[in-house]
Amino acid sequence: MCGIVGYVGAKKCTDILINGLKKLEYRGYDSAGIAMFEGNKIKTIKAKGKISEGLIPKVNEQHPFAAVSGIGHTRWATHGEPSDKNSHPIGTDRVSIVHNGIIENYREIKNYLLEQGYSFESETDTETVAKLLDKNYNGDPIDTIIKTLSHIEGAYALGIMFADHKDHIFAVRKESPLIVGKGSGEMFIASDVTAIIEYTKEYYLLEKDEIAEITKDGVVFCDLERNKITKELQIADWDISAAEKGGYDHFMLKEIHEQPDALIKTIKPRIKDGMPDFSECGLTDEKIRSYHNIYIVGCGSAMHAGVVGKYITESIARTPVIVDMASEFRYRNPLLTEKDLVVVISQSGETADTLEALKLSNKAGADTLAIVNVVGSSIAREAKMVMYTLAGPEISVCSTKAYMVQTAFMYLLALRIAYAKGTITHIEIKQLVGELLEIPNKVQMCIENYEQYKNVALRLINTESLLYIGRGLDYALSMEGSLKLKEISYIHSESYAAGELKHGTISLIYEGMPVIAVATQHDLLEKTLSNVKEVKSRGAKVILICSEGMQDIKDEVDHIVYLPKARDMFMPLTAVVPLQLIAYYTAVYRNCDVDHPRNLAKSVTVE
Ligand code: AGP
Ligand code: GLU
Repeated sequence: MCGIVGYVGAKKCTDILINGLKKLEYRGYDSAGIAMFEGNKIKTIKAKGKISEGLIPKVNEQHPFAAVSGIGHTRWATHGEPSDKNSHPIGTDRVSIVHNGIIENYREIKNYLLEQGYSFESETDTETVAKLLDKNYNGDPIDTIIKTLSHIEGAYALGIMFADHKDHIFAVRKESPLIVGKGSGEMFIASDVTAIIEYTKEYYLLEKDEIAEITKDGVVFCDLERNKITKELQIADWDISAAEKGGYDHFMLKEIHEQPDALIKTIKPRIKDGMPDFSECGLTDEKIRSYHNIYIVGCGSAMHAGVVGKYITESIARTPVIVDMASEFRYRNPLLTEKDLVVVISQSGETADTLEALKLSNKAGADTLAIVNVVGSSIAREAKMVMYTLAGPEISVCSTKAYMVQTAFMYLLALRIAYAKGTITHIEIKQLVGELLEIPNKVQMCIENYEQYKNVALRLINTESLLYIGRGLDYALSMEGSLKLKEISYIHSESYAAGELKHGTISLIYEGMPVIAVATQHDLLEKTLSNVKEVKSRGAKVILICSEGMQDIKDEVDHIVYLPKARDMFMPLTAVVPLQLIAYYTAVYRNCDVDHPRNLAKSVTVE
């Protein structure tokens, strides 16, 4: 994905564009650029690298004219390596664009334009759109845009400026997100509201195949037949501080600390008379009883939340749950019928693979429920039912509070399914819900224990590779722990079912290799401890994460982290905190860029 901003108003736009791009850098930071109206020309300044490394020095060198309108882009490359020439904005003397997404038929368009005498400076797919707009330009921007879009296949959100339409910005989207911000005597476009919330909390959601023409006085929306569209104004319900670090060293640490609050905000409104309540999305008990199979689909941490969901749902609701990573699900021709429920999980609501898996499910006639964190996101609007995790904006590329609330939703869903199917009684559910509502306090206690996790991190910082092992829910959780460490500290790690080690992987154990064992399930403790002994006898240094009160097993391991007691089934919600903070401190000690890990972006809106 990438970040798009735009401004039309009376203020100097350079600072506003750059400030907005900085707030969107979590969406991609391979390069950044701005284009502004300067007289009747469009001036473009762009550079490879992060905003502070490339773009800002160039802007300071060039002291751009005090332009009052322009567009900006921070890139996550899909076509063409990160470089100055592949940076956006991209255009000609007549037109300049910024693009989020992928143009699937860009080769065909490029070949056509080459035949028409056009040349290309970049390796991007985006440049074909800019040149096609230039080719089609007839003095009427909307007509030009509509004609151009009719030849484009793929996913896109575009910010467009035409040199002869000074102080007008055009925005259009198909799949990638784009909003139009409404200020007083000024207007904005942005990939999401974090870029503009310090200027306005009012915005319009641009929907698929809609075009916006923006001036400082307002916005006009139309569809691809030029029919005017009126839209409802949205009001962001959080402020700029929620999108800033709030005194923490990194967004990731801030968001870990926000987990108790995120849990409360997400769970409490969905508890009615002591019961999980899904009435806001229309998921009734009758519907639940009608489903033959339940699928849970997502990517990365979202998928890991689904794995916990599988174990819990099958355990208490005795209902089969198939969990799949979206990139596999969508291509394995799943056996979907209209009798199935597909639950898709996504923080951003823009992950391409998850969105396509959702579309596939809708097309197959299955019922679909999206659990997403971004209001109005593409996945939210594509699903037949949607429930929002209310974690607030998650800025760090490494997901923490979103995973936490997604997993919490898995408990709510499992409990509701169990109730609908009668596998546990009303009284039992109320008891479990009561205990679930206690979890935020236990998460807070884990967070406060951060010194313990620092000590563990110090044992890992020079490690080449390590294993995370566990059984049952502990195995599900170890997947998330391993991903956290990998993605921000760049240490290779692998989560492994503890009982499976002896079937090959145990050969990887070398003298001194760290193994993080998660053992929170009493019924599996002895089995997990036997696996701990197996790896220890081969030289591993075992760090055990287990519930306080488990029999005193510290002599059997090299380091132990105790967790506040909770019912075994809820332990993933507490045990994930040490795994998050171990990864965090390891990355910090290794001087990694915690919030912007190399090669990654916050949401992968391309395949
Ligand atoms: C998690 O830390 C990663 N950033 C990544 O695996 C992420 O969970 C995945 O890309 C899914 O993103 P989504 O929840 O926005 O769909
Ligand atoms: N496909 C475009 C490029 O590679 C845009 C990528 C993005 O959405 O960041 O420049």
